[in-house]
Amino acid sequence: MADAVIEIRGLEFNYPDGRNALRGVDLAVHAGERVALLGANGAGKSTLLLQLVGILKPKAGSIHVCGLELSRRNVREVRRKLGLVFQIPDDQLFCTTLYDDVAFGPRNLGVPEKEVDSRVAKALRDVGLPGFEDRMAFHLSPGEKKRASIATVLSMDAECLALDEPTSMLDPRARREIGELLKSLPQTQLIVTHDLELARNVCTRAVIMDAGRVVADNGVAELLDDRELLEKHGLA
Ligand SMILES: Nc1ncnc2c1ncn2[C@@H]1O[C@H](COP(=O)(O)OP(=O)(O)OP(=O)(O)O)[C@@H](O)[C@H]1O
Ligand SMILES: [Mg+2]
Repeated sequence: MADAVIEIRGLEFNYPDGRNALRGVDLAVHAGERVALLGANGAGKSTLLLQLVGILKPKAGSIHVCGLELSRRNVREVRRKLGLVFQIPDDQLFCTTLYDDVAFGPRNLGVPEKEVDSRVAKALRDVGLPGFEDRMAFHLSPGEKKRASIATVLSMDAECLALDEPTSMLDPRARREIGELLKSLPQTQLIVTHDLELARNVCTRAVIMDAGRVVADNGVAELLDDRELLEKHGLA
């Protein structure tokens, strides 16, 4: 479709040990959508997100981001368009200060330091960590790390966001605040989550993965109200 921001076709992936993690995933996310990607532990959600920015390479199938087919040649351009929040914050935070972590993406894109400065301040404010610029991620609580890893992606100002469990480890108020923040952002979003309340409040559409395949795709309310469907796929 013309307005697909993320288009995944026939995606298959095996881990080096032979584990068949993706078995033919088809999924399109359109401009302005916020899509919840649900599924039990081990369903393949994180594996799918890692493919979107070329960290893992598919065995078969294709990925388009903003009309660009992902390949080794244009992986940098794709990463400029799509910001990924990793499931594990330690994979995202590796600098000496939080300032440098959040500044890393925009600096890499050649954004002038003055603008980097204001982007860092805004991103940290947006995730509820104002004044944390000089802190070191290593010494943060798990919930603070999660917020910081979201800030590293917000500062990139990408066209679309893929977030792996953005509210895991957050307290109830922070969960609500991150939900409100995601709702307020203009970007197209693909949100992997076990937080069904977040999915209901933030997303318009929801997709379920099971054993490396997309097995359901519907309006978020219709899907979450289908108790039988949720139970069948380990979500209730
Ligand atoms: N590095 C790896 N090597 C081998 N197998 C892996 C590796 N990482 C993940 N897997 C396997 O791939 C499958 C999909 O894992 P993945 O992490 O994508 O699941 P997930 O849906 O994100 O689960 P969760 O909800 O627990 O985060 C699982 O069976 C998992 O055991
Ligand atoms: Mg995962």
